[in-house]
Amino acid sequence: MAGTSPELVPDPAEIRCVRDVEALAGQALPASVADFVAGGSDAETSLAANRAALDSVFVEPRVLRAAGDVRTDTRLLGRDCAQPVAIAPLAYHRLVHPDGELATARAARAAGIPFTVSTLSSVPIEDVVAEGGDVWFQLYWPRDRAATFELVRRAERAGCVGLVLTVDVPWMGRRLRDVRNEFALPAGVGAAHFAGATAAEVAGSGASALATHTAQAFEPALTWDDLAELRRRCELPLVVKGILAPEDAERAAGLGADAIVVSNHGGRQLDGAVPPVHRVAAVRAAVAERCQVLLDSGIRGGLDVLRALALGADGVLLGRPTLWGLACGGQAGLDRVLALLAQELRDALGLAGCRTPGEARQLRTVLGAERGDR
Ligand SMILES: Cc1cc2nc3c(=O)[nH]c(=O)nc-3n(C[C@H](O)[C@H](O)[C@H](O)COP(=O)(O)O)c2cc1C
Repeated sequence: MAGTSPELVPDPAEIRCVRDVEALAGQALPASVADFVAGGSDAETSLAANRAALDSVFVEPRVLRAAGDVRTDTRLLGRDCAQPVAIAPLAYHRLVHPDGELATARAARAAGIPFTVSTLSSVPIEDVVAEGGDVWFQLYWPRDRAATFELVRRAERAGCVGLVLTVDVPWMGRRLRDVRNEFALPAGVGAAHFAGATAAEVAGSGASALATHTAQAFEPALTWDDLAELRRRCELPLVVKGILAPEDAERAAGLGADAIVVSNHGGRQLDGAVPPVHRVAAVRAAVAERCQVLLDSGIRGGLDVLRALALGADGVLLGRPTLWGLACGGQAGLDRVLALLAQELRDALGLAGCRTPGEARQLRTVLGAERGDR
């Protein structure tokens, strides 16, 4: 098994809520892989703040609204999906399970939600799309411009139904856990969209090999003109991921973005970047209904999805819990996580007096004292 200890495969039945999956996955993964998944940049201030910020959002439930028959389905990027949730782009799923992105695609299809495949996927996009379900492709913009548009065409030809441009990675944030571990891809795991071996596979350089590869491969100086060109040259619905400032959201919407992901990359880029939970209402106000607004960074269950909706988002991206679920036996583990997420969201919606995700957007929230004061 690439990168994992085969003797320790957790039983998915032990996962009783989405939050359980982190600790279980920790038992299955080698320490350096667990660190790569869980870690943030520098002092991990934003990583911790993301959770604290979500925990500080209190929802004002409504009552006597016949919320017995709760539905979690909605539409993202103009297509039906079973929950207001898409799988976030996450590099190298084969680090946590040998079936990698193929297992993720099967679980996402079974759950009826879109799966965003990273430029740094460990399985080629064509093979992932062949598993069925809605697949979005996430673009890290290669330094070679021709290669960028070739990747975009490749995603279109493969049958992807959305393109996600990540804009918060001019280079990788300094992830000290990976630096200390001199983290590199183990044998058998590689960047499937790159020909041959990459710097990400070269261990022992005193640095994170993944950061070295990112710095070599991707364009650090993107501009709004690049986004405009991508919009012109790409036929797919376009998502811009990694926005926190309302002005940036407004500009992206003005250039034709179909959705914005309010995100601080799970606390892995600028440490000290504001938790997206604190910006989502301002971003919504800036773009109104011109584009969809998605939120990620810290989503760990159905209550967090409700919080995001109540703050004005159309939906969320599920990040680390995806890889933690996959670490618990591949597709079966992720199936369990996604089923629990749906159940938790259904509960949260009903208990808040809402029959649909759309109704949750009408709820009021109160920003309370953070953890411990409840
Ligand atoms: C292990 C890992 C790999 C990631 N790889 C990518 C990637 O390839 N492309 C990208 O746009 N974001 C990537 N992200 C960021 C996620 O898409 C998402 O923004 C983040 O995980 C949200 O935070 P959360 O996991 O705490 O919910 C990665 C995050 C993690 C944890």
